[in-house]
Amino acid sequence: MSVAGTPTAPPASGAASGAAPAVSFENARTAGIRLSASMAASMRATALRAQGRTVFDLSLGEPDFNTPEPIVQAALDAMQAGLTHYTGPSGLAVLKEAIIRKFARENGLTYKADEIAIGVGAKQILFDLFMGSLNPDDSVLIPAPFWLSYRDMVEYNGGQAVLLPCGAETNFKLSPERLAAAITPQTRWLMLNNPSNPSGAVYTRAELEGLGAVLERHPQVCIMSDEIYEHIRFEGVEVCSFPKACPALKDRTLVVNGVSKAYAMTGWRLGYAAGPAALIRVLNKLESQTTTCPSSISQVAAAAALDGPQDFLATAQAAYTRRRALVLEALAQTELRVVPPDGAFYVFPECSAYIGRQTPDGRTIGDDIALADYLLDEGGVAVVPGQAFGVGNYLRLSFATSEENLRTALAAMVACLSTLKKG
Ligand SMILES: Cc1ncc(COP(=O)(O)O)c(C=O)c1O
Repeated sequence: MSVAGTPTAPPASGAASGAAPAVSFENARTAGIRLSASMAASMRATALRAQGRTVFDLSLGEPDFNTPEPIVQAALDAMQAGLTHYTGPSGLAVLKEAIIRKFARENGLTYKADEIAIGVGAKQILFDLFMGSLNPDDSVLIPAPFWLSYRDMVEYNGGQAVLLPCGAETNFKLSPERLAAAITPQTRWLMLNNPSNPSGAVYTRAELEGLGAVLERHPQVCIMSDEIYEHIRFEGVEVCSFPKACPALKDRTLVVNGVSKAYAMTGWRLGYAAGPAALIRVLNKLESQTTTCPSSISQVAAAAALDGPQDFLATAQAAYTRRRALVLEALAQTELRVVPPDGAFYVFPECSAYIGRQTPDGRTIGDDIALADYLLDEGGVAVVPGQAFGVGNYLRLSFATSEENLRTALAAMVACLSTLKKG
């Protein structure tokens, strides 16, 4: 049985049909990475649905809202106006200027045009970052739990991913002491994700300053600050951009962001970043040889999102706030233990109370992967096991789905968990 959350690379072409493949289409480097675990969990949910099962998908990290109308209209206008050609890898001026204004307005940061990169999603920028900057033996510090693509991207591009487990006792945040102890002469990047996927943790400005004080002593270490969830935050929590908290480190920080999560634009594939011009040139060079540029139409739409009316952010925020409350209420009826998230649209409860329990047909739930499988197979609820994010005995539930779906999914999950008995 395939296991949710521990996807293996897809079989080489030919194997799926049962015929022995004459050649391997997958090289060793690609064989060494995983299919994105959240995508794998969602694909499994889709496959079960195709078999006629009712499945509630709490595995995917994308807003369920449609892209706001003014953004869609800007894209339609761009197409009508013939903005349907390649752009340079660094993008249309109208987008770069909108990004520069966004950083000034929302983050209090000043960047010039040659300090801005765009990509086919933040994902492309992150991949290009490692492809373009890592040398063999370079290491990258990744506080765990982490967004599952970081590790594979680093390893695929020849770097050593050094995982730094950060437990619930520090609200899953990296401490300055932990950081100081982990840095070596080989450390090239520190990956920060603020707010965090999957934990929802948000660093305070003072906490960022604490990390910055350590990093100032290690000029070989650059910082990647992934702030893609900055607009999804709860109960008065502020999100401070890393270079705003640590201006002395701005010239070795890449701030990564995008329109996917904030403006419900995941399918438009448009991410952006700001950092030192020399690094931006590396990213542009790689883009010129790979995707050339993100879609010109998406670029215009992203400029409209950043420059246009911002009321959607508050509407989405209010919806996520209600959904977060629903999830926390449901989790309180279970033995899952959760630190309420300060940002992003995930909860990351600890599930060790259920490990070792028996299913009604006498199987033992051995770990979080088995628990996620059980929830999907028996309860029809798709979640991602913590191991995909670098820590065992946790589950990630996304609440980027309608309240109606969420209510039904949570009720199914609570009922399913209650069938697990102590051995
Ligand atoms: C932490 C984090 N960074 C980056 C991304 C990639 O976003 P994009 O859609 O811009 O590629 C995601 C998507 O799930 C994410 O969770």
